[in-house]
Amino acid sequence: MKVGIDSMAFATPRTFVDLSGEWADRRATLFANGNADDLRMKVKKGIGMNCMRVPDAHEDIVTLGAEAIKRLLDSSGITLAQVSHILFATEGGVDLSKSASSYALGLLADYYSADVSHIANVELKFACVASSYALEYAAALIRSGMTTRRFVIVVSSDIAHYELCTPAEYTQGAGAVALAISVDPSLVVLDPHPMGAASADERDFFRPLFKDTPTVDGKHSVDVYLRLVEMAYQRYQQSYFQSQLKASPSDVIADAGALLFHVPFPKMAEYMAARVLMPVAGSTSSAALRDPALRAEAEKEFRSSGVFRSLFAEKIEPSLGLSREIGNIYSGALFLGLASLLSQSPTAVAQLAGRRVIFFAYGSGASARAYSGTFSTKIAPLSPTAGPNSLMQGDGKAQAGKECGRALNVPDYERLHAFHGQCQLRQKDGSLVAVVPERDSVCTPRNAFAYLGMESGNPDREGHRMYRYQI
Ligand code: CAA
Repeated sequence: MKVGIDSMAFATPRTFVDLSGEWADRRATLFANGNADDLRMKVKKGIGMNCMRVPDAHEDIVTLGAEAIKRLLDSSGITLAQVSHILFATEGGVDLSKSASSYALGLLADYYSADVSHIANVELKFACVASSYALEYAAALIRSGMTTRRFVIVVSSDIAHYELCTPAEYTQGAGAVALAISVDPSLVVLDPHPMGAASADERDFFRPLFKDTPTVDGKHSVDVYLRLVEMAYQRYQQSYFQSQLKASPSDVIADAGALLFHVPFPKMAEYMAARVLMPVAGSTSSAALRDPALRAEAEKEFRSSGVFRSLFAEKIEPSLGLSREIGNIYSGALFLGLASLLSQSPTAVAQLAGRRVIFFAYGSGASARAYSGTFSTKIAPLSPTAGPNSLMQGDGKAQAGKECGRALNVPDYERLHAFHGQCQLRQKDGSLVAVVPERDSVCTPRNAFAYLGMESGNPDREGHRMYRYQI
């Protein structure tokens, strides 16, 4: 049975920060000894980011997730009656008990005036890797015959919200990606051989219950990512070799039309690509492999070699366009890479047909998965309605303007950042009252799902979240 990704769509906030603008002037003293141009160069070339999407006050993982699913349904023609499950991957749940999928389903039921009582739904969490687990479960559900309808939807929705004025600040972002998984899919047929797995109990990145931003050891998180994804890829290769006689590590790479990495920031894809490609290029000495410092130096040198640059340009760069404009979207970041690939010209997309795609997933804490699929011969570019207009220009480049989103000035960005950090019930005259997000919104929600605040005043409903589609 051929099972895989049949169609996809994504959603982002309209509001964004241009990291080459006022933001760089304001942060230059902190990050670049007062030299704003140096900071611009560092963020663009050293990190790989141009802009980062910042959620407006009325947006959260539920509204973004519901919007991505709505775009998926509208652009593909799939109806909620054909959906058996919604698996909602996020590392930023809005409630410790109630599933974000339940809130999102409520919004969709209202928007489509549809009966959704048949749709099984659940929230899954493991930092950024939960989306790959959700994809694996979706495929297993379909293969096992446990689904009664044609599609399982995997939606990944997150807001990367870091402390301001730390090196993680310029790797923020927000967005959601929805995938429809089915038999005889039109985009990617998942390979039947097992995923390569690697796990370890790590403290590279986590968000304790009492904090609204993660505790992150940035350099350590990069090291753990490299180590675990490498281990998962080695195990993936072993299962690949068992299924393909006479295959070698370079055959695995040569066979692949695209390597898709989890992208917390685009430069991370270069770091990981060097680790994957260097042994294939035959440039790893065993001394370098044993000593982490020597290895980092050798990989850095390899990254500037012609052989690396040409493999990177062919197999990886086309998947990074949207990440450069949106930023980290945690659980959806890997699949945003797929959306970037499918936002290329029709000729470039057609060339992917029949080629293998390898997915390299990572979640802090930590777990890595390496798996693959084959691009369907029916593959076609993403429909213009499957993503925000601003980001569907063929090269994934965001453009300023009313249609495309709203560039934020730094005071508004910092106000929204603080808004998303605060507890959304506050004390007033001795009782709890709800914060009303719309009053803090930069863009009034129109034709959009909106978070309206939490219920207060009634002990039976206190803290329950209110949402509506705003016309
Ligand atoms: N021009 C060009 N490049 C410049 C430059 C300039 N003026 N100044 C510096 N650079 C380059 C550096 O040389 C470096 O590149 P190389 O590695 O090729 O040498 C690059 O910019 C990065 O600079 P730093 O090493 O100084 O890094 P930083 O202090 O900016 O921190 C970070 C980077 C650790 C990733 C930080 O942004 C961070 O903590 N981010 C959040 C955590 C994260 O994303 N971790 C990733 C793995 S964990 C994960 O994947 C899960 C998840 O989603 C969070």
